[in-house]
Parts: sequence; structure tokens; C-alpha cells
Amino acid sequence: MSRARWVVGNWKMNGSFAANASLLAEVVGLPRDGANVGVCVPFVYLAQARQILADSRVALGAQDVSAQTAPGAFTGEISASMLADAGVAQVIVGHSERRQYHGETDALVAAKAAAALAAGLVPIVCVGETLAERDAGQAFEVVGRQVGAVVAALGESVSQVLLAYEPVWAIGTGRTASPEQAQEVHASIRAALGAAGATVPILYGGSVKAANASSIFSMPDVDGGLIGGASLVAADFAAIVAAL
Ligand code: 13P
Repeated sequence: MSRARWVVGNWKMNGSFAANASLLAEVVGLPRDGANVGVCVPFVYLAQARQILADSRVALGAQDVSAQTAPGAFTGEISASMLADAGVAQVIVGHSERRQYHGETDALVAAKAAAALAAGLVPIVCVGETLAERDAGQAFEVVGRQVGAVVAALGESVSQVLLAYEPVWAIGTGRTASPEQAQEVHASIRAALGAAGATVPILYGGSVKAANASSIFSMPDVDGGLIGGASLVAADFAAIVAAL
């Protein structure tokens, strides 16, 4: 069975109303058959992006979601149902910057993925090892543990997520995993997903640029990319989509 192919931009904590308007004006035209496109924007820009993307095939995304499913006293949190209400289709969970700077655990990430699915959103579940873990020969073990937590929490519903392999040492460093390094981890993730592995898209993230996108996307278990810095420059993002 063929798997959907995606290029998703993760703007992280970047943007302004003025800059977003010109960037999104270019992004609206990028999706085509066989190349799905999404953008995950800061919460405060969701309404703006929704309006600009309204008649396009670009999927609107957020970068995080609360694990809490019932409304209530959770200052600063944003629930999955609020995101759905705001027109969001997909949401990143478990980005390494959340795991690293906000202490998010495998269990919390799995709960966020479950909350997203329950509200009808597609969670983009990020996994990946640090440089120290890779150097210690633990890359497969760490990624397997992170994926396993999500599989255990979601059961068969794991077939509805997008996975993203983002080696922490490749994020924002200009140092990308080689296509072969990405492929071998992607293959292990696919195996860890069980039956769902046949259909769940697995994206690669970490210093994907126009120049290296084609070789990474050509690997058999790489179904696209989750793009940070290069998603902020219209021409670069367009070239990456074209490479898919
Ligand atoms: P860069 O593309 O800037 O390395 O970021 C990757 C990333 O973290 C996407 O979520």
C-alpha cells in the first residue's frame, strides 16, 4: 500500500503578521498530487494562517497541544479541541525542543498524541536520539522506546499518526543524517509500528535543505520531511517540496 508523502514546515518561535503574510502567499500554491504540504505555526498566528490558507490544500498545524482533554484550570495550556475549533488539522507532539527544554516525557508525549487524535487532529509524533546517545550506540534503543510509548498508548489508532524522525544532533546544526543513517532508523521505526508501519508516513527532520532533500527523500522508508529553518524562506521551502 502506498503511503502519503508530506513536507511539513515547523516555524518554531518565528514569524510576524507581516512576514507570515508574504511567506504564506507563496506556500498556498505548493501542494500537488503526491506531495502534501503542511505548516505548523505559533498559536497566535493560527487565525491568520487559517484565513490565508482557506482555499488551499495546505494543512494548518500547531506545534504543541495540552494532554488535558477537559477544559479547566490549566493556565497557559491549549487543548486539542480548541485547536480543532481553530481549524487546525495537525499538531506536532514530542518535538525534541519540548522534551529538552520543557521536560516532556515519553508518557506525556503519548498522552498528547492521544488527546490530539481524540479531537480529530493528526499528531505528528517526533522521536530522535541525542548525539551522546548515538555515540553510545543507543540510537535504535532510544527511538524504539519513544515509538513504543506511543504504540502502547494508542493501540491500533497509531495508524492515524504521522511520525517524524529528528536526530537531535541534526536539528539546526547544519549537520544532517546521511540518507543511509535516516533510512536505517526509519526502517526500525516502521518495524516498531507493527501493522500500522505499512501505512504510517515517516518524515525525516534535521537540517533538511533544498540541496540535500532529494537524496534523503529518495530512501525507501522516508516519506517526506519536517522542516525547520528552511521552511521560513519561501524559495527554500518550495524547492524542498519540489524535491519530494
Ligand atoms: P531544522 O530544519 O532547522 O534543522 O529543524 C528541524 C526541526 O526541528 C523540525 O521540526
